[in-house]
Amino acid sequence: MENTLGLLFFLFTLLFCIFSFLLFLSRMKPWCNCHTCRTYTTMSWTTHFTNLSDWYTHLLRNSATGTIHIHVLGNIVTSNPINVEYMLKTRFQNYPKGKPFSAILGDLLGHGIFNVDGSAWMFQRKMASLELGSVAVRTYALQIVTEEIRTRLLPLMVSSVACDQQDQDSVMDLQDILRRFSFDNICKFSFGVDPGCLQPSLPVSPFAAAFDTASKLSAERAMTSSPITWKIKRLLNIGSEKKLKQAIKIINNLAEELINKRRKIGFSTRKDLLSRFMSSVENDNKYLRDIIVSFLLAGRDTVAAALTGFFFLLSKNPSVEVLIREELDRILDNPVQECASFEQLQRMHYLTAAIYESMRLFPPVQFDSKFAQEDDVLPDGTFVPMGTRVTYHPYAMGRMERVWGSDCLKFKPERWLHDGVFVPEDPFKYPVFQAGVRICLGKELAVVEMKSLVATLIRQFDIRVVGSDTEPRFAPGLTATMRGGLSVRVYERSGRWNDP
Ligand code: HEM
Repeated sequence: MENTLGLLFFLFTLLFCIFSFLLFLSRMKPWCNCHTCRTYTTMSWTTHFTNLSDWYTHLLRNSATGTIHIHVLGNIVTSNPINVEYMLKTRFQNYPKGKPFSAILGDLLGHGIFNVDGSAWMFQRKMASLELGSVAVRTYALQIVTEEIRTRLLPLMVSSVACDQQDQDSVMDLQDILRRFSFDNICKFSFGVDPGCLQPSLPVSPFAAAFDTASKLSAERAMTSSPITWKIKRLLNIGSEKKLKQAIKIINNLAEELINKRRKIGFSTRKDLLSRFMSSVENDNKYLRDIIVSFLLAGRDTVAAALTGFFFLLSKNPSVEVLIREELDRILDNPVQECASFEQLQRMHYLTAAIYESMRLFPPVQFDSKFAQEDDVLPDGTFVPMGTRVTYHPYAMGRMERVWGSDCLKFKPERWLHDGVFVPEDPFKYPVFQAGVRICLGKELAVVEMKSLVATLIRQFDIRVVGSDTEPRFAPGLTATMRGGLSVRVYERSGRWNDP
């Protein structure tokens, strides 16, 4: 009798597994042979488009609803602001990060804020909003940024000034400099530790390098049509999964060191983010490590990517540069006031507009996905089967005529100004910082950091991109990174204080 029951149970389990697998296949269509899926799997889109995001933009433009379905990836992608509002606000509960996302990024992010839903997310969001929300904290962050600019960035720029356009030695990778700059800042601000990446020798930080490798390889997991491939590689510890494991080990060791040091020095009176979390989850090193990694990801690559895109666009649009300089000359003291105060930065409406405008065209997070918990229908009529990955695509949205009008491809800060005053747009039309319930918590901080850097640099230097006529190629990653960096020449601005 017992044997028969056991056999029945086994058969039932087997049938259930087969049924679930068939259901998965019928929903995900990993074999789909439609034109779009074939173009994706054969990578033939590369013959016409530089970046995957450019091809997606093309598909989304040609879709009547502004939404497409890449069947082989089980991925619905939308550029329709009404859908974006629906998934990020109206039906937020049905579009969590979901298990597939947690699996892809789980090894790197663990249970950090970016990778969790429900109560774990709410707790971290509450703690982080306390830290990031107040004006006092922003002023503190600006002090850190200003110091990094004065003591490291400016001397480095001065030492890199080019004599002329033939001066090959003076070509510098601005993207690398900006990544070092934002890494130093986020570490100082969040953990009270200075990694010194922007010191004159431009040292290689093992933390930063391991972090780059790990985020690149984690993002590549999401690009495979089935998670089985990377899961098997991980099980066998081979290829990219072996490298990922090694990079994560370095990150874990360094994070552990950071936590232990902080514990030794004492954290109860400190104001940085790590200390705040340590007061609430004192002995859980794994959890604290996850928090560290999430904040590094949040604050470093995004700001550097945004600034890289900004300088690329500025180099191609000298008239915008002229207008920014006019505003700076009106607000800052003449002669040389190196860095602007918080109050002065608040008055720079044109600069704010230029920064928002550059992220419209080059959003640091080009697309972002959630997973539908239940079957659903988006406002544009698209049916979403349970378990489907639903992606909103800020990169494509910024290039969509129906969202931004016929001049959508133009870099035009004026579209953000009403009578000279910066007016933010509907966040669901511009989900560069996400929008709705999980909107970015570091938005204001990031904008202050960017404005401070731009105001200082372009007042003193002309920064010219080498080969600005070619469109950037992006490397796969969680945030936009230009392949090969952003090569620039830096010229000192002559005669800038001769004006009356
Ligand atoms: C230009 C710079 C930045 C951009 C474009 C940006 C963009 C984003 C985006 C798209 C998300 C949603 C990610 C997701 O849920 O999948 C996000 C979330 C978040 N960002 Fe930012 N971010 C920037 C800078 C920062 C900075 C400097 C910090 C902190 C120091 C920060 C802290 C956060 C946090 C904590 C979240 C998680 C919010 C949550 O899940 O509730 N961000 N950001």
